[in-house]
Amino acid sequence: MAEIKFYSGENVPLEMHKVRIVQKLDLVPIERRHAAISEAGNNTFLLKNRDVYLDMLTDSGVNAMSDKQMAAMMEADDSYAGSETFVKLESKLQDIFNMKYFLPTHQGRACEHILAKVFVAPGSVVPMNYHFTTTKAHITLCGGTVEEIFIDEALKVESENLFKGNIDIDKLNALIEKHGAANIAFVRIESGTNLIGGQPVSLKNMQDVRKICDMHGLMLVYDASLLADNLYFNKKREEQCKDMSIREITKNIADLCDIIYFSARKLGCVRGGGICTDRHDVYMKLRELIPLYEGFLTYGGMSVREMEALTVGLEETMDENMVNQGPLFIEYMVSQLKKNGVPVVTPAGGLGCHLDAMRFLSHIPQSEYPAGALASALYIISGIRGMERGTLSEQRNPDGSETYAHMELLRLALPRRVFTLSQVKYAIDRIVWLFKNREIVQGLNFIEEPKILRFFFGKLQPVGDWQIKLVTKFKQDFGESL
Ligand code: F0G
Repeated sequence: MAEIKFYSGENVPLEMHKVRIVQKLDLVPIERRHAAISEAGNNTFLLKNRDVYLDMLTDSGVNAMSDKQMAAMMEADDSYAGSETFVKLESKLQDIFNMKYFLPTHQGRACEHILAKVFVAPGSVVPMNYHFTTTKAHITLCGGTVEEIFIDEALKVESENLFKGNIDIDKLNALIEKHGAANIAFVRIESGTNLIGGQPVSLKNMQDVRKICDMHGLMLVYDASLLADNLYFNKKREEQCKDMSIREITKNIADLCDIIYFSARKLGCVRGGGICTDRHDVYMKLRELIPLYEGFLTYGGMSVREMEALTVGLEETMDENMVNQGPLFIEYMVSQLKKNGVPVVTPAGGLGCHLDAMRFLSHIPQSEYPAGALASALYIISGIRGMERGTLSEQRNPDGSETYAHMELLRLALPRRVFTLSQVKYAIDRIVWLFKNREIVQGLNFIEEPKILRFFFGKLQPVGDWQIKLVTKFKQDFGESL
């Protein structure tokens, strides 16, 4: 995506790719959308794709693939052990991360499972900039606790801070002092902090964290799932990265880490995952669990076709015109919504546009899941599927009380190279309408609540008949339009 000036002065993100394969979409009538969200228990995870117009649930496994990735899939070397496809992928990772060892897994959370099993013991503490749902679940299942040591600015929805994903160095020092380095399993940094609006981490911050890890003999583990967006922000927002290529920034980041793991459903635009390290001792500890939980060491649960495409996808991620597509579209969406007074997370981050449900629906208490209600309302009026990233995505405390999320966000993911600008404009239009009619929307409560990762399958119902009122108002304003 080149930043090309328009004569009109308009700021338009211009695509540096063309679309050669398309998938037909339907926009079903609002009555069907209302019925569909009820059938799904007001949980957008449970909607069927046939009822969805724009799927902004996630970027996971749904980024557009390139012609070269698709072509590479035809060359895959299918064998249980020793496949040539693995050798290619391993050498690509050695090349971009400068690390000797690569362990394949079927997806990102499988890496988290293995890392937690090997390094987290009952009583262990894992400091991190911010947790991700599956990361926290694996660490707590192994008896560890997650300590978030984000900078104070991280939770300010509207901010000027360009690296809200950074770790607070004083908090890290205090935590090590409190628990003792021996009780810390590792320090984890998540690139593009998923749950707080895709906010990046600076290279400088990582350098500072590394120094502290060195002082205490701690491992630095980097979750690179959202690395592509983070690299773009390093390049654009950080003085020391301004003149570096994307490849050089990647190497600088990797050189600071003991372990890098990633979801290849995000990084590399396929479906898979993996763990990289340059440390032989670490490799030997992790290696045993791969054939046990994932698959043999040369596929780890991934299809070889996906692995071929990943090798190409990783190389393509080293191209600035590839990594900037997501962030520039997101920035466009965020700036247009902001112009219309809609509360959104700023600065625009990676992964997607994040609506601030706490202010959008300030009349709904956190106990009635404002971000979940917003997800449900937006689907009804637009056919757009977003993802709740608020209290519903948290787990209850052992005593059954709620953990209220720091932020109540509705994440509208923009999978890379998937949507057109007119589709993004449609999303903006419907969100602005919903904001004008926000008083109609009320909360949700559980009718079926699973104990672990409840947001995936939990079912909820609306408090009162607000959804019927919303449909009526939509029909008044839009008539026969879908
Ligand atoms: N780490 C981060 C930062 C993630 O965003 C994800 C997944 C994972 C780990 C787990 O990877 O899905 O391949 O097992 N995020 C997806 C999302 C699910 O929609 O944000 P996975």
